[in-house]
Amino acid sequence: MEGRSKPGPWPGAVGEGAVIETAALTKRYRGGQLAVDRLDLVVPRGSVFGFLGPNGSGKTTTIRMLMGLIEPTSGAARVLGQEMPRAGRRVLPRVGALIEGPALYGFLSGRDNLLRFDAADPTAAPRTRAARVGAALERVGLTSAAGKKARAYSLGMKQRLGLAAALLRPRELLVLDEPTNGLDPQGMREIRALVRGLAAEGTTVFLSSHLLDEIEQVCTHAAVMAQGRLLTQGTVRELAASARARLAVTTPDTADAVRVLKEHGVHDLTVTDDRVTGELPPVDLADLNAALVRADVRVRSFGTERASLEDAFVALTGEGFDVAG
Ligand SMILES: Nc1ncnc2c1ncn2[C@@H]1O[C@H](COP(=O)(O)OP(=O)(O)O)[C@@H](O)[C@H]1O
Ligand SMILES: [Mg+2]
Repeated sequence: MEGRSKPGPWPGAVGEGAVIETAALTKRYRGGQLAVDRLDLVVPRGSVFGFLGPNGSGKTTTIRMLMGLIEPTSGAARVLGQEMPRAGRRVLPRVGALIEGPALYGFLSGRDNLLRFDAADPTAAPRTRAARVGAALERVGLTSAAGKKARAYSLGMKQRLGLAAALLRPRELLVLDEPTNGLDPQGMREIRALVRGLAAEGTTVFLSSHLLDEIEQVCTHAAVMAQGRLLTQGTVRELAASARARLAVTTPDTADAVRVLKEHGVHDLTVTDDRVTGELPPVDLADLNAALVRADVRVRSFGTERASLEDAFVALTGEGFDVAG
């Protein structure tokens, strides 16, 4: 009865090599809130997959369905090739998860918290427990603070302790819900470095975030959510490339520059300090540069700026990304 799960509602071999795959996954909470709306997600094995969306867009709800913590209203989810939540007991030991802050005992030290976690795992041999806990503490940089009570930990240290708990066993997949939420820049850098290291060892990492630049910095792939719906998914490079690059001119003579660029068919001009940017026009940029110089615009720099994931997001939704939210 172990065997393979039923084929499920997926067309053909679309999800070959996918560690997470959902088909029309939907969650409507009691009370009527449609939190996740017919989500089709494909997370390739070996990726660092960023699940990006503003607060309230359905990220945590999706993750809770993937981990079998709540039942979908309709649709299906497969994790490591098996149907969730049905196959949870087989799948979850192969998945490390950190969801909405770890559950820690404040009165226990960091090390004792991990010893407890490890003891709760019936497949973890007691003889090697201390070594496993020591290695996990080392991994997240908590060795020297291991004897401190968890309630004395900073938010970043608590988050790292939660990660250590997820890393007690080797995992094929790590699912991290907003792992850098509430951390200072140094704490964020540490988590990012950890994620990169795990990915380099072959662990697939699925992490949610409402921060675009974070996704750009660590992820190979991303999916963008808004109001429970998937807007797009793909490699970060593809997503950024889908937003057109812009022309950028640095000059002390911004007003003249705007006039000349406008005359040469550059649309959507914006000025920030000494920088003028606009849509790339269908003319030779050399001619455009010459025109600026002819009009006595003093040009400090002239070129195209790479489109970012943020540009792609703005293009998709027609609005900016609320990073403060
Ligand atoms: N237990 C719940 N009961 C009812 N509504 C909920 C519950 N949890 C979340 N929601 C609602 O579902 C939507 C998605 O929430 P959530 O999945 O937490 O988004 P995110 O993690 O992207 O911030 C929000 O509108 C939220 O208010
Ligand atoms: Mg959330």
